[in-house]
Amino acid sequence: MRIAVVGTGYVGLVTGACFADLGNAVICADIDSRKIEMLTRGETPIFEPGLVEKVRINSRVGRLSFTDDVADAVKKSKIIFVAVGTPPGPNGEADLSQVRAVAETVGEAMDGYRSVVNKSTVPVGTGDIVSQIIAEKSGGAYTYDVVSNPEFLREGSAIHDFMEPDRIVIGCSNAAAGEMVAELYAPLNAPIIITDLLSAEMIKYTSNAFLSLKISFINEIANICERVGADVREVVEGVTKDSRINPAFFGAGVGYGGSCFPKDTLALVDIAAKAGYDFKVLKAVIDVNDGQRDLFVKKIAARLGKLKGKKVAVWGLSFKPNTDDIRESPALDIIQKLLDGGAAVTAYDPVAMDAAKEVLPGVGYADDPYAAAEGADALAVVTDWNEFKEADFKGLAKAMRRPLIFDGRNIYDPAKVEAAGLEYVGVGRRPGAAAPEADIKP
Ligand SMILES: NC(=O)c1ccc[n+]([C@@H]2O[C@H](COP(=O)([O-])OP(=O)(O)OC[C@H]3O[C@@H](n4cnc5c(N)ncnc54)[C@H](O)[C@@H]3O)[C@@H](O)[C@H]2O)c1
Repeated sequence: MRIAVVGTGYVGLVTGACFADLGNAVICADIDSRKIEMLTRGETPIFEPGLVEKVRINSRVGRLSFTDDVADAVKKSKIIFVAVGTPPGPNGEADLSQVRAVAETVGEAMDGYRSVVNKSTVPVGTGDIVSQIIAEKSGGAYTYDVVSNPEFLREGSAIHDFMEPDRIVIGCSNAAAGEMVAELYAPLNAPIIITDLLSAEMIKYTSNAFLSLKISFINEIANICERVGADVREVVEGVTKDSRINPAFFGAGVGYGGSCFPKDTLALVDIAAKAGYDFKVLKAVIDVNDGQRDLFVKKIAARLGKLKGKKVAVWGLSFKPNTDDIRESPALDIIQKLLDGGAAVTAYDPVAMDAAKEVLPGVGYADDPYAAAEGADALAVVTDWNEFKEADFKGLAKAMRRPLIFDGRNIYDPAKVEAAGLEYVGVGRRPGAAAPEADIKP
């Protein structure tokens, strides 16, 4: 089937490459000509494991092509997936300008039936907005369907998540249009849930809000563990043996980040408010998440006495491992707070340093993690990249001015770290249990 995917970001490019891999002819369209030029050369503008190989193979056999002419892609395709950004607006509401722009282009360019499938995460009711825009711009000359097909892939494992999804959600008002989209996913043998447009849009926000809730909940439990002397990892182990409580997204740390949870939680609070409902639990989730980063920096300041004049090494800049995405990354916030407190920061990340340099110029960047820790008064581990998990603790203890690790992702065994001569402070772990009260200001 001939498909257009509009927007070649983390979701659109993976979607386009995977649908091509499944045997479809796919045109990926984006208004960013720089991205399109790179993709046409066989390079990917983002780091995502396995993606560049899929892009190259499918381009070579002619199933995948790229264009910055969105109207042309619409003309050539019967099904148009929309995977553009929906960033937060000033009050947390989802900014739909990119989605609206694509709907306008579709309405203007279509020359026959089209099915417009929305993959972007959009507020409940957006399907109707897209439909109205297409009707206005096309003058009602052609029939069309608007379908919702929210995406659940995770950066870092996006290809796997697309190819082996837990479920596919399809929302539609016309069953035939839903079936046409379902057919594209048939080779994946995944459960397909077909529902109405509004419920499909709601499913995506509900998933992200619930996962964020799990993270903030366990972070609060961790904060209590620190005060009472319990160990959150052992608590989680005991709790998740209960088959009703799934261990995924249930680890304590510096909180969630990325381009989805922060914006989608804010957007759902806004969606609820506009529907006349005060979503109290979700507001608390957001509040706790913001506070978790503060708390982490306060712990560092408390241990060091003050931040001014101290050198802090930070391992990890991306919001999670296996991606170069730094959008809403806790690392950026934590580093900024350390800088505001007067600390000098040297950071290391396997792939996200170029992106970070653009937004955090006042930071030193090291070529390897141990060079970042050289002479440091503390090491803060903020992203749980695999390469940090097996650290050379003895080497670190020698290289650092004060051998002190703040494990913001609870990836280390405190006993092992301490045996190598380092002080260990985790999140909700038994050692380092003192509640942080220090002011982070110099
Ligand atoms: N990133 C994720 O892990 C993830 C997961 C699930 C869902 N989502 C959702 O998917 C959507 C896309 O997210 P993303 O991370 O891929 O975004 P992104 O910012 O990486 O990519 C969006 C792309 O759309 C392009 N674009 C903007 N306006 C356009 C237009 N009018 N015509 C053509 N292209 C246009 C941009 O140039 C950009 O390349 C968002 O709604 C997001 O919430 C993201």
